[in-house]
Amino acid sequence: MASIGILGAGTWGIALARMLTNCGHDVVVWSALPEEIEALSATRRQRNLPDMVIPERTRFTKDIAVACAGRDVLLFAVPSVFVRATAKAAAPHIPEGQVIVDVAKGIEPGTLYTMTQVIRDEMGDRRVSVVALSGPTHAEEVARDLPTTIVSACTDADVARKVQDVFMNSCLRVYTNPDVEGVELCGAVKNIIALAAGISAGLGFGDNTKAALITRGMAEIARLGKAMGCYEQTFAGLAGIGDLVVTATSRHSRNNRCGELIGQGVPPKEAVERVGMVVEGVNAIPATLQLARRYHVSMPITEAVDAVVNGGMAPRDAVDRLMSREKRSEIGAAVQYERAMLRRGSDTKRVITYGTFDLLHYGHINLFRRAKALGDYLIVAISTDEFNWNEKHKKCYFTYEQRKALVEAVRYVDLVIPEENWDQKRRDMHEYHVDTFVMGDDWKGKFDFLKEEGVEVVYLPRTPEISSTQIRRDLYDANAVEGESRVSHDDINTDPGSEGRR
Ligand SMILES: NC(=O)c1ccc[n+]([C@@H]2O[C@H](COP(=O)([O-])OP(=O)(O)OC[C@H]3O[C@@H](n4cnc5c(N)ncnc54)[C@H](O)[C@@H]3O)[C@@H](O)[C@H]2O)c1
Repeated sequence: MASIGILGAGTWGIALARMLTNCGHDVVVWSALPEEIEALSATRRQRNLPDMVIPERTRFTKDIAVACAGRDVLLFAVPSVFVRATAKAAAPHIPEGQVIVDVAKGIEPGTLYTMTQVIRDEMGDRRVSVVALSGPTHAEEVARDLPTTIVSACTDADVARKVQDVFMNSCLRVYTNPDVEGVELCGAVKNIIALAAGISAGLGFGDNTKAALITRGMAEIARLGKAMGCYEQTFAGLAGIGDLVVTATSRHSRNNRCGELIGQGVPPKEAVERVGMVVEGVNAIPATLQLARRYHVSMPITEAVDAVVNGGMAPRDAVDRLMSREKRSEIGAAVQYERAMLRRGSDTKRVITYGTFDLLHYGHINLFRRAKALGDYLIVAISTDEFNWNEKHKKCYFTYEQRKALVEAVRYVDLVIPEENWDQKRRDMHEYHVDTFVMGDDWKGKFDFLKEEGVEVVYLPRTPEISSTQIRRDLYDANAVEGESRVSHDDINTDPGSEGRR
């Protein structure tokens, strides 16, 4: 059994204290508010969880040194605005090698640090392991032992597993994830989207609006996260869409409730006061917008919530602004994340090639493989049907969308963009920060002008004995396909080994 110190005696800290005590761990809780410690130890009740009784074995202390000394795990459970001050106060009492778990969700304005980064920052040179524990976990339901899931995120897999072991029980299932920044970003920004969902409910809107806010909200969180280098899977996971769904739809969510009051016309400041607990979504807005600017990512829902909460805009006007935004493609957004990623860091060597890529074949894939070997990131520009027809006077067997889908399925290819005219190449070299331009040597010399754009121009030898023209000719003469299998699937024994086992 583990010895656990909990810093913070709010709703989540106390719900976890009860759960961990009931699992047999030795739990000591500290709060910065001495009167809170007195009330908790006297009543064994937390004001926001009136039906939950705190076990007698859960201990309380007003001394942060006691909470930190000799703990297997030290849990930070204060609202994000108090994390730095709490880490500063705790730091002198935290030993080398301490495993620290943070459950606060937020981003620090100014530094733009996530909460584990803030804690690390306050530890100075001391070597500690910091885990972000986050997911769809309302304290009110954990207090009732309702089945819940959560993510233990740490770059050190052994530490993530250690925390998984300590927190896992028959009511709480813990998954590990190495993407700490992605997990924390989701935890912080989903609260802003939950405010938006609450505002829409307060305005009297329905499930359609809520679903739209959750989906497009996730799109903007993922756009920012991907630009920051977080893992794509995190956004589809428990700390991502899981936490967003619970926060944007649950009656327990204070962000949702605060938004609802705002939507009903209560001034934002008063709405926060009425909720009576920390409303992390409001705290997260400035830092999230700073991150969006830093990574050149558009976050229209976050901007709309900011306009309402901090800019005095009427919620109805913010909705009109969102609904009348310039027309967009849902899928096109993916290209924008990719562009944002491309802007990051100059170490990535980008390679581009252009073509029709009809009837995708071995020659094409060989070209992609060799082009990719010239750098780290391969962009393939595929000529659109209009371009083929109007400028090249040819019609493809597969449509642009089909050719795009096929090329995207090739693992050497990182991004597919449309080629719409002959003139775009110079522009593409800059927009996609291209280092190397690659074509087959049947175009030798034809694109040397791109060297003027500071790009290396490479003509790769064509793969012998294969060409789209030849394949098309063969298809045209389709009856020439010989030796085609005439055996029906029903006649094949697909498990020959089974004979011997019978
Ligand atoms: N409540 C939940 O269901 C839940 C679930 C997951 C994560 N979280 C996250 O956990 C964090 C804490 O949430 P909560 O629900 O416990 O909030 P809360 O509003 O219940 O917590 C308030 C607590 O903060 C502490 N505090 C007050 N002033 C302080 C100060 N000056 N210095 C240090 N500590 C001080 C006190 O212990 C107080 O009880 C938040 O970041 C929240 O997003 C909450």
